[in-house]
Amino acid sequence: MKTFYIETFGCQMNAHDSEKVIGTLVGQGLSQVETPEHAELVLYNTCSIRDKAEQKVFHRLQQFKREAGKGKVFGVLGCVAQQEGERIFDRAPHVSLVCGSASYTKLPELLVQIGSGSKRVTGLSLDTEETFETSFTRRDNPHRAYITIIEGCDKSCAYCVVPFTRGPERSRTSDSILREARELADMGYSEIQLLGQNVNSYQDPSPAGWDFARLLREVGAVSGLRRVRFTTSHPRDFVKDIIDAIDENPVLCNHVHLPVQAGSDKVLTGMQRLYTRDDYMRRIEWMKNSPRNISITTDIIVGFPGETEQDFEATLRLLDDVEYDSLFSFKYSPRPNTAALGLADALDEVEKGRRLSILQEKQRGIQLRKNSELIGNVEEVMIEGFNKATLQWIGRTSQNRTLNFVAPETAPLQTGQYHQVLVTRAGPNSLVGEMVH
Ligand code: SAH
Ligand code: SF4
Ligand code: F3S
Repeated sequence: MKTFYIETFGCQMNAHDSEKVIGTLVGQGLSQVETPEHAELVLYNTCSIRDKAEQKVFHRLQQFKREAGKGKVFGVLGCVAQQEGERIFDRAPHVSLVCGSASYTKLPELLVQIGSGSKRVTGLSLDTEETFETSFTRRDNPHRAYITIIEGCDKSCAYCVVPFTRGPERSRTSDSILREARELADMGYSEIQLLGQNVNSYQDPSPAGWDFARLLREVGAVSGLRRVRFTTSHPRDFVKDIIDAIDENPVLCNHVHLPVQAGSDKVLTGMQRLYTRDDYMRRIEWMKNSPRNISITTDIIVGFPGETEQDFEATLRLLDDVEYDSLFSFKYSPRPNTAALGLADALDEVEKGRRLSILQEKQRGIQLRKNSELIGNVEEVMIEGFNKATLQWIGRTSQNRTLNFVAPETAPLQTGQYHQVLVTRAGPNSLVGEMVH
C-alpha cells in the first residue's frame, strides 16, 4: 500500500488523533490523498457519541463497498471501532482493519499483517500504558496546535459512551506536556489548545504532582505562545484557581466551555453528573466576577429519559440565568452499554425535536443580544482564513467568537497573524468588523 485517505468525525480529540495517525502512516512511507477514490487504504476515524454519528460511518462504508473487490483496503478507527470491535466485520464485511484510539501505535504492525495477507486485523486493547509519544504528529494547521494532556474518562454519565470508547482516565506527565508546548512555540505555533475529555481532572502523574490550574499557568508562561485554550472542563472538578490563573495571564484565553447538560437537579441526578444546579451556578459566578470578561459556552442534552416539561423549563431558565455566549445542544440519543439505555420514560423524537428547537430559538436571541453589545469594541483576532465569496478575512477572538472583517486591499494579511478589529455589526453566530491595525 502506498496511498491512504482519512476522514475524521467527532470531537477535537479525534481530529488530533487523526493528525497522529497521518504522521504514523507518512512515517511508514505512505502518502495521504484527498479522495477515497484515489487511495489504496481508506480510513474512517469515527465518533459514537450519538446514534447519528455512528450511522454516518456505516453509510460511508456502504458507498464504497464495491471498490473493496478491486484491492482497496478499508479501516475503521476511533470510537465506533472501540465500541463495536469485531462486530464491524459483520456489519461491513469489506472492512479489514478495526482499531481503537488507544492502539494507534500498533498501526504499522497491523498494516504489515494486512500486507502479508491477513483479511481482518484488530487493535482493540484499551492500552492504559499510554506513552503520549507525539514526535510523529502531522499537524494540519501551522498556527494552532492541539496537545493532549489527559486521555479517557473516569466519570460515568448515564448517557455517555466515552468511558467505554476511550477507557479510563490517564494524565500525561507535566514535563512531557511542557516539552511539547515549548517545541511547538519554537516551531512558530502561537496558539495551543490543551485537550482532554475533562481537562480539569488533570493530575500530573510525575512527582511534581501539578493540578490543572498549575499546568495552565506553566503552559501560559511558555515564551512565544500568544494564546492558550483548553477543552473540555467538567463542572464537578472546576475550581476557582482556574479562573485566577486566567485572570493573571492574558495569554490564557478568556473562554471556558463548561457543559451543564440540564438545568433541573432531578435530571442532573439521573444523568449522574455529580453536581447540582447551585454548584454549577457558583462556578458561573466566579467567571462573571472575573475582570477578564470570560465567555462561557456549554453543551445541553434535551429529552433525557424522565425529563418533564418543568425540567425542560428549568433548563430554559438556566439559559437566561447564565446567558451563554454559545452552546451546542443535542437530542438525547440512547447509546449501547450506558446506564440510561434501560431507563423508562423515554421521550419520543418529535417531542425531543420540539424542545430542541425551542431551546435553540431562545439561545439565538441571547447570542444576538450579547454579540450586539460588542459593537464598537476593538477586538484582537487571529486570522484563520479568507472568505473569497464575501471578500472578508475570518478572525477568531480570544473569547472564541468568529469576527469576519475587511481590510485595506494593500494590507499584506496572512493566516496566523494577529490584528485589531473594530466590531461594526453582529449576528447570532458571528461578528463583522473592520481592521484597525
Ligand atoms: N467530557 C465532556 C463531554 C464530551 S461528549 C463533558 O463531560 O462535558 C460531548 C457532548 O455530547 C456532551 O457534553 C453531551 O452534551 C453530548 N452527548 C454525549 N452523549 C450523548 C447522548 N447519548 N445523547 C446526546 N448527546 C450526548
Ligand atoms: Fe462522557 Fe460524562 Fe465522561 Fe463527559 S464526563 S466524557 S459526558 S462520561
Ligand atoms: Fe465522539 Fe469519541 Fe469524541 S465518541 S465525541 S469521537 S471521544
